[in-house]
Amino acid sequence: MEQQALKSQIDLDKLPRHIAVIMDGNGRWAKQHGKPRVFGHKNGVTAVREVTEAAAELGVEYVTLYAFSTENWKRPKLEVGALMRLLVETLSKEIETLNKNNIRLKAIGDLSKLPDITHKALLDGIAKTQHNKRMTLVLALNYSGRWEITEAAKSLSEQIKSGELAPEDINQDTLGRHLSTKGMPDPELLIRTSGETRISNFLLWQIAYAELYFTPTYWPEFRKAHFYQAIIDYQRRERRFGKTSEQLV
Ligand code: FPP
Repeated sequence: MEQQALKSQIDLDKLPRHIAVIMDGNGRWAKQHGKPRVFGHKNGVTAVREVTEAAAELGVEYVTLYAFSTENWKRPKLEVGALMRLLVETLSKEIETLNKNNIRLKAIGDLSKLPDITHKALLDGIAKTQHNKRMTLVLALNYSGRWEITEAAKSLSEQIKSGELAPEDINQDTLGRHLSTKGMPDPELLIRTSGETRISNFLLWQIAYAELYFTPTYWPEFRKAHFYQAIIDYQRRERRFGKTSEQLV
């Protein structure tokens, strides 16, 4: 269906506040076109732009993109280097557009282990957009859910050791406040492209009740229409949070 027709089917009063995306299929898309994997990542930037724009136009508050996992370091050095440079390039090109559109940039993950130029470009982008209010675009970089939960456990233990916190004070809210997503609502919708149906260590704690949407479309081909389709699908589902259908009415 055409993009505008899909957009008009979305109920703006029932939008997810936070949408998380596992951008997958860049390599396979490139291969399909007889090109190196990096060609897929470069074309993936178009999809990043489309999703960011579509989400901001609709009024979604947070979009989190899985841009680089802690496992991605195992890829060929050449690909990792190219991805890191692509991030720097994209950030320096797009920060102005983010500002024009009142979008705040944020990053989650172990950023200190990123190459210096990537880390710097990221911190620069975050600083330059920090006062923007319309939407927050979160890049998950050198991120994994298990890493994040482990870090939360460490920081809670430190607080117990120093006497700041008692073990019986730990509950789900306390733990949530020690995650890198503190202050953000949990994603209600998680999209994964390319036909894979795994979570791959992404936002493990936060997606406890998220609706999962899998599409065969490769990430470089993902456009606004695909994004709208995912939201329409989400809105057709009944979210029960453990209750019965009758209890919801
Ligand atoms: C997954 O496809 C994609 C990635 C690990 C990288 C995503 C990065 C970008 C789209 C580049 C720029 C991003 C931002 C936020 C500016 P894959 O390589 O795993 O594909 P495959 O499964 O087909 O091999």
